[in-house]
Amino acid sequence: MAKIPKTIELRGNEVILVDQTLLPLKLAMIKCKSAEDVAEAIERLAVRGAPALAAASAMALAVTALRSKARTKDQIMAELNRAGERVRRTRPTAVNLFVGLERALKAASSAEGAAGVREAVAREARAIADEDVTVNKKIGENGAALLKDGDVVLTHCNAGALATVGYGTALGVIRAACSSGKKIKVIADETRPLLQGARLTAWELQREKIPVTVITDNMTGHVMSRIGVNAVVVGADRIAANGDTANKIGTYSVAVLAKEHGVPFYVAAPTSTIDMTLKSGKEIPIEERRPEEVTFIRGVRTVPKGVNVFNPAFDVTPARYIRAIITERGVVRPNELSKLFKR
Ligand code: MRU
Repeated sequence: MAKIPKTIELRGNEVILVDQTLLPLKLAMIKCKSAEDVAEAIERLAVRGAPALAAASAMALAVTALRSKARTKDQIMAELNRAGERVRRTRPTAVNLFVGLERALKAASSAEGAAGVREAVAREARAIADEDVTVNKKIGENGAALLKDGDVVLTHCNAGALATVGYGTALGVIRAACSSGKKIKVIADETRPLLQGARLTAWELQREKIPVTVITDNMTGHVMSRIGVNAVVVGADRIAANGDTANKIGTYSVAVLAKEHGVPFYVAAPTSTIDMTLKSGKEIPIEERRPEEVTFIRGVRTVPKGVNVFNPAFDVTPARYIRAIITERGVVRPNELSKLFKR
């Protein structure tokens, strides 16, 4: 079986990541040597997916620290804060990006001297990446129990190995179910406008020989009513305290259709994606991207010049459509999130 490389890695004083804009045509890695390089990779979605963004933001600070010529802690902290500000401005929705930055900055500020800061930030960035894979495997294990042998599972966007450092969240649940011997068939929504489902989810699953069928986003209702879907499993970019969940644009429509057809709708995400500071999904900032992502399909114009375009990258699925949230600490109803944070 063709292996999927680590999505992102801190190697020496470089960040090495899979350039996801080239998939499925080409599997190529890029090297980032500065926070600016990482920020640009995030903005153009070379690296994407909430958990991968936590690793990316922390690694952006790690390369800054490792390459810094600063002699004092104050100097290196100033450089890290500047780099952090740059990365903070890249994408607003996935809370993980901010969690990665905060963790790296906290590690830096509790270290001693410039050398201590360098070491602490690099260690923290690597720890975030390592934890990601462990957490995803646990999410997979917890969620696999919800799927039955023979199930057809629909997913939206890519919440797989590529959206994380490895293994994936929603696709982690599917991977774990398959490894336990269940035969699962996946339906991957194409996920307009940037085709993360068609390009990335299909690529990952095909490499692992997990049966996958791609449909365009507007086929979901038809597929649920005529073909039959047993469960929907998606990832998340930010989950508010009341369980409202931001994920790739189109997720909300899938959830409404799932309710109509009596199909359980699950969200698989690490607890670091839960933002208990936000009461409801209304407070989640939604990224809007360039109109050209809608007016062009892979370089070919499909919308007349001058026509208005609206291009939100995410939507919010109200908690009432979500059967359960699958995390590394357990599976809970969306109105029971606080249980996950009780010690
Ligand atoms: O714009 P993207 O490709 O970064 O959006 C990604 C998603 O919406 C994923 O479903 C989400 O980040 C969860 S990834 C485990």
